[in-house]
Amino acid sequence: DAPLRDLADAKGKVMGTAVTGSKLTGTYGEIAGREFNWLTPGNAMKWGSVEPSRGSYNWAEADQIVNFAEAHDQQVRGHTLLWHQQNPGWLTNGSWTRDQLSAIVQDHIATEVGRYKGRLAAWDVVNEPFNEDGTYRPTLFHTTLGQDYIAQALTWARAADPSAELYINDYNVEGVNAKSTALYNLVKSLKERGVPIDGVGLQAHLIVGQVPSTMQQNIQRFADLGVDVAITELDIRMQLPATQAKLAQQAADYKAVMNACVAVARCTGVTVWGFTDSDSWIPDTFPGQGAATPYDENYAPKPAYHAIAEAL
Ligand code: XIL
Repeated sequence: DAPLRDLADAKGKVMGTAVTGSKLTGTYGEIAGREFNWLTPGNAMKWGSVEPSRGSYNWAEADQIVNFAEAHDQQVRGHTLLWHQQNPGWLTNGSWTRDQLSAIVQDHIATEVGRYKGRLAAWDVVNEPFNEDGTYRPTLFHTTLGQDYIAQALTWARAADPSAELYINDYNVEGVNAKSTALYNLVKSLKERGVPIDGVGLQAHLIVGQVPSTMQQNIQRFADLGVDVAITELDIRMQLPATQAKLAQQAADYKAVMNACVAVARCTGVTVWGFTDSDSWIPDTFPGQGAATPYDENYAPKPAYHAIAEAL
């Protein structure tokens, strides 16, 4: 069978995976390089990873992933500049005035985006800004800087690397609902104001049997605003143990997500959040659940892998 990246390429889409830098050797590295043409560092570019103490940077894993990608003719999605999780303690424990935090955020964006200037295809500039009801999540950034922190971050990111596509990324925004409508209204107003925004990322951490029926319609409404859409963190979890029936339903669900993206020209492609069950965040975060990715723990392709290939 042709690698997923070639099938995606033929459809004008990208097929990506989140990766862990230390694992990019052996079978894991072979599959990552062969099957995917787009990589997202799973953790390596988060603020807490790159600046664990103030002014002291650790780029080792991020550099490793970007170098691997360039050696394998892959694009990289930077993930992520502003998020309410995995921040350094010095940042979250500090008490900052508006001006102080604004300067810190600007410096962070200029430093990190600037380091990879011209080498990353896209950045998730802001991650998970909304609550489920569509109100803004009261993060450090929102609380201290006000809701315009998003416009400000996008503007600083554009200045630091004019060639990277700038995204806002969130979860539970795959179908039409209150949260995705809030994201829609934000993007619409950013576009109207001339703030640089190129796309929205729909994370797509889904549950077997529960792909939202309005996914294609939702992707289309963002496309109609004049932005790209990327499925950025697809996984489809199930209650363990995995059975043949659940794996078959999961395959149908993966295919439905792929189809929704393939059907909309401005959907750039799909990234899975880990390609193997041995490198998935699900069992740690959702106890009792797992088997969420297209390859099992021994790197054998599951029905979901073949379903992705069929949709491409
Ligand atoms: C997850 C990583 O996969 C885990 O290794 C880490 O422990 C926690 O974060 N939404 C996101 C991702 O945007 O950054 C998260 O990644 C998963 C949920």
